[in-house]
Amino acid sequence: MPADKVWWRDGVLYQIYPRSFSDSNGDGIGDLRGIIERLDHLGWLGIDGLWINPVMPSPNMDWGYDVSDYKAVDPELGTLEDVDELVAEAGQRDIRILFDLVPNHTSDQHPWFRDAIGSRTARYRDLYVWADPKEGGPPNNWLSVFGGESAWELDEASGQYYLHNFLRHQPDLNWWNDQVREEFDDILRFWFDRGVAGFRIDVAHAMIKDRELRDNLPVDDETDERARRIGQQPIYNMNRPEAHEVIQRWRALSDRFDPPRILVGETFVLDLGKMIAFYGERNDELNLAFNFPFVFASLDGGALRKVVDETESLLLPESWPVWTGSNHDVGRLGTRWCEGAEDRTRCALMMLLTLRGTPFLYYGDEIGMVEPELTKDQLRDPVGLRFWPEPRGRDGCRTPMQWTPEKGAGFTTPEATPWLPIGDAGACNVADQRHEARSVLHLTRALIMLRASSPDLQTGSYEPLETPQGVWAWRRGERVTVALNLSSQEVTLEDLSGEVALSTNRDRDGDRIGDRVSVGPWEGLVIQT
Ligand code: GLC
Ligand code: CA
Repeated sequence: MPADKVWWRDGVLYQIYPRSFSDSNGDGIGDLRGIIERLDHLGWLGIDGLWINPVMPSPNMDWGYDVSDYKAVDPELGTLEDVDELVAEAGQRDIRILFDLVPNHTSDQHPWFRDAIGSRTARYRDLYVWADPKEGGPPNNWLSVFGGESAWELDEASGQYYLHNFLRHQPDLNWWNDQVREEFDDILRFWFDRGVAGFRIDVAHAMIKDRELRDNLPVDDETDERARRIGQQPIYNMNRPEAHEVIQRWRALSDRFDPPRILVGETFVLDLGKMIAFYGERNDELNLAFNFPFVFASLDGGALRKVVDETESLLLPESWPVWTGSNHDVGRLGTRWCEGAEDRTRCALMMLLTLRGTPFLYYGDEIGMVEPELTKDQLRDPVGLRFWPEPRGRDGCRTPMQWTPEKGAGFTTPEATPWLPIGDAGACNVADQRHEARSVLHLTRALIMLRASSPDLQTGSYEPLETPQGVWAWRRGERVTVALNLSSQEVTLEDLSGEVALSTNRDRDGDRIGDRVSVGPWEGLVIQT
């Protein structure tokens, strides 16, 4: 790695849903040892860092996002020794490990909550958000993100309600309490001391609640679709300005480590200005803030370009964008953006890997994995079950990685029952695509390699170009132009010359272009001068 390379800015990051990546012991559940066994694949692909969804002990009411011990590993996923080995083995391949921090809530089985519930004077009572009933019902009108019911649950023994913005098994922590802040400082240090390179922070915008517990406002014309689904504007139970203080505190702590650790936030806000505020006015908050307006824009030049251009214009010069098309909540890009069409998926991958900003690939994106249709009895996600059949739950994007065409897909043994069904591994798997020079996998790798060898693609400026409808083209730095035809019509672009460094179909790599070039339907080109 060149000395001036900043791994999380210049490199490519990759998200692993650990239960679904690779199962090392044949119990049908992916685990840390499985990830260690697959590091060669990730090294070959050119990945610089992994974000691994929660691995801490959890009753799995929300699959790891209900943590019952922040300083241990869930036995189904491995041990602390496995973490040490993973950090060391990944380090050998220049791959850093980011863990997932869940600070908004714990599991209701966490010892703090076991203590807190039942008595107003319990030692850990104030670590959670409690309130008296109002007119015989919940303290205010706040609704849970999961299910649209009251976000308050009555603790009969003490006569007070506790807050849960998500499931009732996920009581919200009281971030006004200094002890909560100190406990989490300690949790960060615990993992940083083990060599974890940073954290992805779950619902980073939600930690602090209005101190006066004021009622949320009803939806209005401006309310986004997500809040509309819940049925109110979440302005007092999340999105409070004081969340920034907590993030600043963690950033200061992370910066003090050598090398500095990094913070990536799940800033699930659909207003770009609010999202960008999480980088901090002095770039002293998140290193990277996930861009959900980008995730939810449709794959056409107009919508995506608008988000990218606006993000570019709002970001402070010191702050750095991050782009992703899939994750364990929103779905897979191959399905949501591309409807399973491979030419579209190729364009989406070219876009993610050539914009100015850090790309996060989700496991399986590199082979263009799509979400299988699941039946209700196959679902494991509480949200999917609650809202069945609409909107689609989150299990479809959490199915096991497809390594080989065989039964078990190389994810687990052929005899084992995988914890979630496996998609069509015969049609889409790593092993077959490794043998096929023009596969999506080889395209992904070639894009990553090109990026790694091109300072323009890593840190060069982004400048959108004038193009005909349906096309999105931009210059990166001095010598690179990317042209994506996100339409079903062939188009001709003028004033472009150079050599095709990569084409989505791989059939034009190395071609010389003099002044004008035609770009086929759903074709993308990276041109170098
Ligand atoms: C985040 C996670 C999601 C989880 C929720 C509650 O949105 O990404 O998977 O269910 O927080 O922790
Ligand atoms: Ca296992």
